[in-house]
Amino acid sequence: MATVLSGIQPSGQLHLGNWAGAIRQFIDLQQQHDLFIFVASYHALTTLRGEELRANTRQVVVDYLAFGLDPQRCHLYLQQDVPEVSELAWILSCVCPKHLMDKAVSFKDKVERGLSASVGLYTYPILQAADILIVDADLVPVGKDQVQHIEITRDLAQKFNYHTDSECFKLPAYRLAEHAQVLPGIDGEKMSKSYGNTIDPFMDEKPLRKRIMKIVTDGTPQEEPKDPETCTVYKIFTGIVGSQDPRSQDLAARYRDGGLGYGHAKQALFELIMEVFAEPRQRRKALLANPNEVDAALASGAAAARERASQVMDRVRKAAGLR
Ligand code: ADP
Ligand code: TRP
Repeated sequence: MATVLSGIQPSGQLHLGNWAGAIRQFIDLQQQHDLFIFVASYHALTTLRGEELRANTRQVVVDYLAFGLDPQRCHLYLQQDVPEVSELAWILSCVCPKHLMDKAVSFKDKVERGLSASVGLYTYPILQAADILIVDADLVPVGKDQVQHIEITRDLAQKFNYHTDSECFKLPAYRLAEHAQVLPGIDGEKMSKSYGNTIDPFMDEKPLRKRIMKIVTDGTPQEEPKDPETCTVYKIFTGIVGSQDPRSQDLAARYRDGGLGYGHAKQALFELIMEVFAEPRQRRKALLANPNEVDAALASGAAAARERASQVMDRVRKAAGLR
């Protein structure tokens, strides 16, 4: 069975865009793969720390479990619970030419914007390579912005194999989310926490409905026929269930027939979200009331990851001459 790994940034509040573009994919993958998903807390230290990091980490874990990551099928863990990762990062850093990091975009961007960047941010891709190689991952599902990091990972794995004349690491591949469309936010731009335009499917019913009613639409009067394809409400709707779903087709027909006001479309979207996320919303409530369940999921995920990590580190230490 192929090993699949991905890391998530503990960025706190998740939104429908994260679910559509990333989380949904993980939930599908856990059916047929050996799936490792971890919270990249060490990476997050390049931008936040303390109570903010603690709270965000917890929230991300609870939300992922609520969305449907199943601890029976997927190893969910925190990066700091597999300390071998930082040992491997050091070992990889010693085969990493400096120029490889000079080219890495997240560091380069920050410096170009005149911001001060830490050494942690500079070597961020090495730590990411360690995350991936330490579980012998075959496949890493990521967004486009992460492709360079996977290429660096392959490069470092090859360099280590070459320098130690070993086959220590296999070379992981990346997988971009298939047909991942970008889900728009309430203002029609890409939904992103940085734009303040997100929809959180875990919101209480009333504020959620209010939020959906704020989606920006044009001024076409209710009676007139409308083109669903250009409407943000419809785009979000189909981003959730796909345009082939009978519910989408029914809504599209109502747009085209005329007589459908944007308020009606928004109400349909609200009802869809309540329906699609009914189970996750229930699960989230139960998890918040039962923190032990969350802790148990993290403990079993960490145990599985450490077991794999200790096998890999055995190989690495031998090849490196540390044994
Ligand atoms: P944000 O833009 O809110 O900061 P992140 O950059 O943390 O989100 O993205 C986390 C994951 O969610 C990535 O895999 C990204 O591709 C996905 N994602 C984020 N926003 C969207 C969106 N609007 N549509 C589809 N996928 C998204
Ligand atoms: N850098 C990734 C991001 O910003 C998070 C991450 C850390 C990651 N380690 C990883 C993703 C390993 C995939 C594999 O989203």
